[in-house]
Amino acid sequence: MSMNLITALYLVASVCFIQALKGLSHPTSSRRGNLFGMAGMTIAVLTTVGLIYRLGAQMGEGAGLGYVLLGLLLGGTAGTVMAKRVEMTKMPELVAFMHSMIGLAAVFIAIAAVVEPQSLGIVAAITDPIPAGNRLELFLGAAIGAVTFSGSVIAFGKLAGGAVFGWKFRLFQGAPVTFAGQHWLNLAAGLAILGLGLAFTFTGDLSAFGVLVALAFVIGVLIIIPIGGADMPVVVSMLNSYSGWAAAGIGFSLNNSMLIVAGSLVGSSGAILSYIMCKAMNRSFFNVILGGFGAEAGAVVAGSQEQRPVKSGSADDAAFMLSNADSVIIVPGYGLAVARAQHALMELTEKLAHRGVSVKYAIHPVAGRMPGHMNVLLAEAEVPYEQVFEMDDINPEFGQTDVVLVLGANDVVNPAAKTDPHSPIAGMPILEAYKARSVIVNKRSMASGYAGLDNELFYMDKSMMVFGDAKKVIEDMLKAVE
Ligand code: TAP
Repeated sequence: MSMNLITALYLVASVCFIQALKGLSHPTSSRRGNLFGMAGMTIAVLTTVGLIYRLGAQMGEGAGLGYVLLGLLLGGTAGTVMAKRVEMTKMPELVAFMHSMIGLAAVFIAIAAVVEPQSLGIVAAITDPIPAGNRLELFLGAAIGAVTFSGSVIAFGKLAGGAVFGWKFRLFQGAPVTFAGQHWLNLAAGLAILGLGLAFTFTGDLSAFGVLVALAFVIGVLIIIPIGGADMPVVVSMLNSYSGWAAAGIGFSLNNSMLIVAGSLVGSSGAILSYIMCKAMNRSFFNVILGGFGAEAGAVVAGSQEQRPVKSGSADDAAFMLSNADSVIIVPGYGLAVARAQHALMELTEKLAHRGVSVKYAIHPVAGRMPGHMNVLLAEAEVPYEQVFEMDDINPEFGQTDVVLVLGANDVVNPAAKTDPHSPIAGMPILEAYKARSVIVNKRSMASGYAGLDNELFYMDKSMMVFGDAKKVIEDMLKAVE
């Protein structure tokens, strides 16, 4: 395989990755996006195997091709088994686990390059002794990789509910783990890593490199433990970004354009996603990263019950209202995912559509607990894409809608975001369900949602609460409509 062909194939793979990101930005094009991603990765992996084969032939030996193929076999098998087994609700854990592997791979490559530069010299820009520029790249790649690894392991544990393989760890608990002087300790560790990294860059001191990698593993733990479990999706997206930058840093050392392009795409898209999520939650990025707010607030109010009276009705009442409406908008939220009620909901909306009711679904960007959570849930139940609307597209329609059915959602329909400037969610974009002619809200109790706030929507004259598990309530509505 000539170097020109390798460069051309890497370019094709890069274009595929860009197309993949473009496709994944909308549900209707997401399948195509995934296909582009798969094609790009296949081309990138096969081309890299070809590159290694070429280098091995030049050297008159295998250049570790056997190890590469063994790695592909083991990693590919493990990935296939995990992807087939994982449940939709466990997706964020799987993603956190994969980031941890990318971080660890970056650390291993950096250590190999530092300890035995001649071993990588054939595939990399590295010579023995290593030039200062390469040492800077290796320092950055290894430090970011180590933070990504240990941070992702903690994120994985917190998302898994504190227990891994049946073992409970305090560090993995959902509630923030805090102690006096934590931020100062983090700052000191960060500065120490920087100082050691510069020492390694300018002097090539191996012990400085070793200590900085060890400290980076520790700081990865320290910066994630004070963050509450409910904020983990933002953290996972941030670690996703880190894993991309670690890969790009190592790509420079290895002189591999594919790794630089793919790493930069992952790094920048992860950073943009973290920003979008924070904006949609009305939280500043630093507020999330410095820890605690969401989980503390959520934990304190989790069981709190409101005392004011509300109008409540049965599933039969709700079914009657729905089947006599001309237009219905459904607002799915975290509770729908918890109840796994998406298939029953799909059946219900099909029945309503047969009766001539116009049914639409309204998706808030941070409904649920991970980006695109509701889109994935509805896609799983094969809800037609054309019935699913993003917030900005559907908000103007609420005012002309007969009935809005809110299923296990709370914060994303809380009018306080618009009406109360002192509310913690003031300014957060919401689905304007309160503008509809009548609103049916299904949840199990009057307990608050993620942000721990009371919701004025539940007390409006036009609103009716239907208490109960979303799946049971929807199944009862289905029977009543039939
Ligand atoms: P929430 O505000 O958390 O409300 C969900 C509601 O579902 C709860 O009030 C709960 O009330 C109800 N519920 C739970 N289990 C249920 C079941 N089995 N059947 C029926 N209802 C059930 O959810 P949301 O409206 O989807 O808003 C999402 C929140 O999460 C936002 O504040 C957002 O900022 C935050 N967040 C989102 C993300 C992403 S990326 N999506 C990431 C981090 C944080 P009961 O207990 O009374 O049933």
